[in-house]
Amino acid sequence: MAASWIAKLPERKKRLLLEVLKERYQDELADAKVVEEAAKGVPYPELREVLLRIARREKRHAELLAERIKALGGTPPPPPEVREGATWQELLEALESEKADRIRYIEEAYGLGDPEIKRLFERIKEEEEQNYRELLEVLSKLDPYAEGA
Ligand SMILES: [Fe+2]
Ligand SMILES: [Fe+2]
Repeated sequence: MAASWIAKLPERKKRLLLEVLKERYQDELADAKVVEEAAKGVPYPELREVLLRIARREKRHAELLAERIKALGGTPPPPPEVREGATWQELLEALESEKADRIRYIEEAYGLGDPEIKRLFERIKEEEEQNYRELLEVLSKLDPYAEGA
């Protein structure tokens, strides 16, 4: 049974919310996958653990977004294709992606004008920040030029 606030949402607004939620959902899954793939190639267990923690956080975000998508009567899209075996370059891209995610979530939290989604996006944004900091730490410790690795 749909909550009454959903029933009252104009169709256009609902479509916009679903569009944003679906895009964010796929982005979370893609981030999780890239970081997970990267973890496989990291020779240090403690750094690998940090990456897996980030991936778990991203998957949790995807779950939370999927819940909102379903609450709005939508269906979560299929997971995006991600190349196997992330490289150094992809880890750098993941870092950029987390940086961009912080901004996207906060902009959309305010821009969409939906209280439930605002709360959710603010919470996710905090964790994107954490991801960013932790990825930065992993990258600095893995610096390929640091010891000629
Ligand atoms: Fe995330
Ligand atoms: Fe992210």
